Amino acid sequence: MAFTLLVFQFLAFHSPVTAQPQPYRVPWSIVSYGPDGPWPALHLRFGNPAVNIDAYPGGAFYSLLLTPDVCNIQKAELSSSCDTRNAGLYNPSQSRDAVNLITAGAGGIRNESFHGTQTIHGDANLVFDTLSFGDGSRTDAVVSNATILALSSALKTLPSGKAYKPFVGNMALGAGDKSMFLGSAKGSIPAAFLFDRGDIPSYSFGLHIGSPSLSILGSLSGSRLVVDLVDISIGVADEKSSSLFKFSLKTPAVPTAYLGFTFRYNASITKNFDIKIPFKLLNLTLTAPLVDRPTPYFPCSLPTLDSTGDSPSTFRLGRAFLQAAFIGVNWLSPASMFFLAQAPGPLFSPSVVRSIQPNDVSVATSGSLEADWVKTW
Ligand SMILES: *[C@@H]1O[C@H](CO)[C@@H](O)[C@H](O)[C@H]1NC(C)=O
Ligand SMILES: *[C@@H]1O[C@H](CO)[C@@H](O)[C@H](O)[C@H]1NC(C)=O
Ligand SMILES: *[C@@H]1O[C@H](CO)[C@@H](O)[C@H](O)[C@H]1NC(C)=O
Ligand SMILES: *[C@@H]1O[C@H](CO)[C@@H](O)[C@H](O)[C@H]1NC(C)=O
Repeated sequence: MAFTLLVFQFLAFHSPVTAQPQPYRVPWSIVSYGPDGPWPALHLRFGNPAVNIDAYPGGAFYSLLLTPDVCNIQKAELSSSCDTRNAGLYNPSQSRDAVNLITAGAGGIRNESFHGTQTIHGDANLVFDTLSFGDGSRTDAVVSNATILALSSALKTLPSGKAYKPFVGNMALGAGDKSMFLGSAKGSIPAAFLFDRGDIPSYSFGLHIGSPSLSILGSLSGSRLVVDLVDISIGVADEKSSSLFKFSLKTPAVPTAYLGFTFRYNASITKNFDIKIPFKLLNLTLTAPLVDRPTPYFPCSLPTLDSTGDSPSTFRLGRAFLQAAFIGVNWLSPASMFFLAQAPGPLFSPSVVRSIQPNDVSVATSGSLEADWVKTW
């Protein structure tokens, strides 16, 4: 899965004893997850002794981790097996480094909705604990007192109201602040911690989640074609149970086509740029426990599904969009600079990691990204 990339960046000046700060590549799990996926996940280790836990990249301030208690939730509609276990469970009571913030007065969080890269409803405790990861190319990154919300109860809900246990938690990628204080306890946001130690050149990240089904995409061929949005009908995958979107095209079979999204370029009021998501990446399949039999669906979340009081409801593509888009944030650059671009496509060969410097407001690419996708759309 050379298509996926998550890099924590840093500062290329001032090197104390060690080498120049360099970006860390956060390794991806060889397993992908989700009955609405498959979605790639990061391969991380939490606690001391360290436990392997795969988590989706995304979210601010806290990583959201599932504890063994999540497997004990009883509800008639929930399957008795606990698929949640597969990505790894976090048990703060078995980590020597865990600082349970209940004792620092944080209390438990009960009956709340948590928003990371997914909306999970349940109960959680705030914990600070050691996080480590590495791809073997340099000494592993070790983050002390990483901020974690440890979920003791966790459910996701389909538009129909049917609930299921989440399969994977998520790893926070940063926030406007560099750390969190609770009484005298200080929690670390991973990329900020590594930046402050001089391990990486800036407090930033670059992310392209890619697609596990890429090998299929890369082998497609055909002429380039734009399909008008009008040609897509969005229906209901399974009226009785899930009410998710069904994906159907009224046009004749189109092996190579994309959905194009137009964005305003930088602060320009006249220039636009496009990000093209091949249809193939938007035609996913729902599996159990969401539906009884595999059902193709369009991975777009309904405004009613994830609405939070403070953010407007809207249709969202989320991870599905990031299969073909690159997103990055330079948290300290003039007021958190966000980057969005077409990601490298399936024909992109060697991956080139470039440092984001603290004051960078743009990220350069090498070569034409368009060429990487040419056989896909
Ligand atoms: C959880 O909160 C919702 C409202 O947000 C409420 O309807 C429900 O009764 C609460 N559940 C429990 C167990 O307190
Ligand atoms: C984590 O925070 C606790 C409490 O704030 C502190 O006692 C401990 O030394 C910190 N751990 C590390 C590894 O820095
Ligand atoms: C979606 O994928 C399924 C196979 O997974 C295929 O049968 C179907 O034709 C595809 N639909 C579109 C609109 O491409
Ligand atoms: C984008 O806009 C910022 C400020 O508005 C400017 O400093 C930067 O050079 C622009 N980047 C590009 C690639 O045009």
